[in-house]
Amino acid sequence: MAVPATVWALLLLAAFSCCHVVANGRSAAHGVGVNYGRVADDIPPPRRSVELLRAVGAGSVKIYDGNSSVLRALAGTGMRVSIMVPNEIIPGLAASAAAADRWVAENLVPYYPETRVKYLLVGNELLSDYSIANSTWPRIVPAMENLHASLRRRRISSVKISTTLAMDALSSGSFPRPPSAAGVAGAVVRPLLRFLNGTNSYYFVDAYPYFVWAGNNETVPLEYALFQGGGRYVDPGTGLTYTNMLDEMLDAVVVAMAKLGYGGVKLGIAETGWPNGGDYEQIGGNVHNAAIYNRNLAARMAKNPGTPARPGAKMPVFVFSLYNEDLKPGPGTERHWGLYYANGTAVYPIDLTGARPLWSYPPLPPPENDTPYKGPVWCVLADRGGKLNLTAVGDALAYACGQGNGTCATIQPGRECFQPNTTAAHASYAFNSYWQQLRKNGATCYFNNLAEETTKDPSHGSCKFHSSLD
Ligand SMILES: *[C@@H]1O[C@H](CO)[C@@H](O)[C@H](O)[C@H]1NC(C)=O
Ligand SMILES: *[C@@H]1O[C@H](CO)[C@@H](O)[C@H](O)[C@H]1NC(C)=O
Ligand SMILES: *[C@@H]1O[C@H](CO)[C@@H](O)[C@H](O)[C@H]1NC(C)=O
Ligand SMILES: *[C@@H]1O[C@H](CO)[C@@H](O)[C@H](O)[C@H]1NC(C)=O
Ligand SMILES: *[C@@H]1O[C@H](CO)[C@@H](O)[C@H](O)[C@H]1NC(C)=O
Ligand SMILES: *[C@@H]1O[C@H](CO)[C@@H](O)[C@H](O)[C@H]1NC(C)=O
Ligand SMILES: *[C@@H]1O[C@H](CO)[C@@H](O)[C@H](O)[C@H]1NC(C)=O
Ligand SMILES: *[C@@H]1O[C@H](CO)[C@@H](O)[C@H](O)[C@H]1NC(C)=O
Repeated sequence: MAVPATVWALLLLAAFSCCHVVANGRSAAHGVGVNYGRVADDIPPPRRSVELLRAVGAGSVKIYDGNSSVLRALAGTGMRVSIMVPNEIIPGLAASAAAADRWVAENLVPYYPETRVKYLLVGNELLSDYSIANSTWPRIVPAMENLHASLRRRRISSVKISTTLAMDALSSGSFPRPPSAAGVAGAVVRPLLRFLNGTNSYYFVDAYPYFVWAGNNETVPLEYALFQGGGRYVDPGTGLTYTNMLDEMLDAVVVAMAKLGYGGVKLGIAETGWPNGGDYEQIGGNVHNAAIYNRNLAARMAKNPGTPARPGAKMPVFVFSLYNEDLKPGPGTERHWGLYYANGTAVYPIDLTGARPLWSYPPLPPPENDTPYKGPVWCVLADRGGKLNLTAVGDALAYACGQGNGTCATIQPGRECFQPNTTAAHASYAFNSYWQQLRKNGATCYFNNLAEETTKDPSHGSCKFHSSLD
């Protein structure tokens, strides 16, 4: 009797879900890593988070500070761990060898080697923050050197020191094309590359094909950004042929490094991924695309493909992110990068070891926002199932009314939107009024997570809420 395809799929599902959750010991899966960001309310505690990391086959994890409960929860798991050294403390670590040694004593030594720390990443996207150009950029390498000296003194040789680069720090090349045109500020990056080359470390980049596609959707096919085809691109400078956006971005960094004389420094990917949701006016952030991107990434990286400029190069890779993080400000996509919702439910099934065949996953919901939403949108007080902090809402209301022109005129006594006379109703009006006026200047419908977009007209009686189309 022939076994129906669905039964095969179930058998495979069972087979591929068996192998990651190893009770104890150092038999961690070897899948790509995950960024364990924690800018969220009510996410599962560290121990449960480690189980969730293992359930998707993560081979490594990157954390944004040296939190002790997190580092302890990772002990004995065999998972490789990257710890970020926060931007603010870099000048201090650069100025004092003792301060750097103290950081190592407090954030690494108590947990190592039971927690298998692999990288200390000194600073997060520092070169994208011009406000710290004078205070911090020249201190990056001295801070790295002080940390390195501390590790050496303590005979810790398996921990490498690096930092992360966001693609917007490249002068050109990540997009618009070609990668061979890319460059990066030499004064800061040359000494950094000298350090990385001299210590045989990696340069870590944050590379998001999502943003390139979202900003250039007329020239970059979605499929090309998702590793699903979408044609080829030949770099006229090098003759190299590209089949996906991520490779172009990585090779742009390779080129920029080579122009500074360090074409041999190894690359890692500190962050990449695809949002599973976003605001109505954003495109392409949905569960379908996020699952496709991350599954294809895992399957691809399992084969160590390298890039066209560096075929076969091994790269540590970290997907962003473990959870949808509801306290991240900015547009809606910022709060939707998770493999899991904040309640610990998987957003979609994924095997980060890349071993599970793509066809064996259950069907995904169709993508609904790959092209722009054309209807009206409003911004209102979010419905949190009755859980309202009226103090916080009142503060946000006062803030909104203080921005723009006449933002809250119609909720004054006697005006058309005064009734109902409640903080909640007034907040909805004010959030919308603020957002419709100021969104052209980059304002978002967020208000510390108190606001949400809606496509249902909140106008009532003679009280009219302006929409995004007015
Ligand atoms: C570390 O994380 C735990 C769990 O999220 C939290 O309770 C604790 O306050 C954090 N510690 C520090 C020093 O931030
Ligand atoms: C950095 O220093 C330069 C030269 O002194 C100055 O022009 C610039 O405003 C400073 N930038 C910041 C962000 O402080
Ligand atoms: C980079 O490191 C390698 C290996 O130590 C060395 O041979 C090479 O000269 C270094 N490159 C530069 C530009 O210093
Ligand atoms: C977890 O949260 C998601 C998103 O809010 C929701 O769809 C799902 O039903 C929740 N799961 C559980 C078990 O509560
Ligand atoms: C690309 O995005 C812009 C702005 O969101 C939109 O106007 C345009 O229709 C989009 N093009 C495609 C092919 O989706
Ligand atoms: C309510 O919001 C205020 C102002 O943001 C904050 O200080 C307070 O801790 C919040 N209360 C609760 C119970 O979350
Ligand atoms: C408010 O009015 C002032 C003066 O007319 C104008 O310069 C400013 O751009 C207006 N602000 C907004 C958000 O429309
Ligand atoms: C509106 O509500 C506020 C707060 O509850 C109250 O102090 C005020 O008297 C009300 N105004 C009118 C005209 O009902």
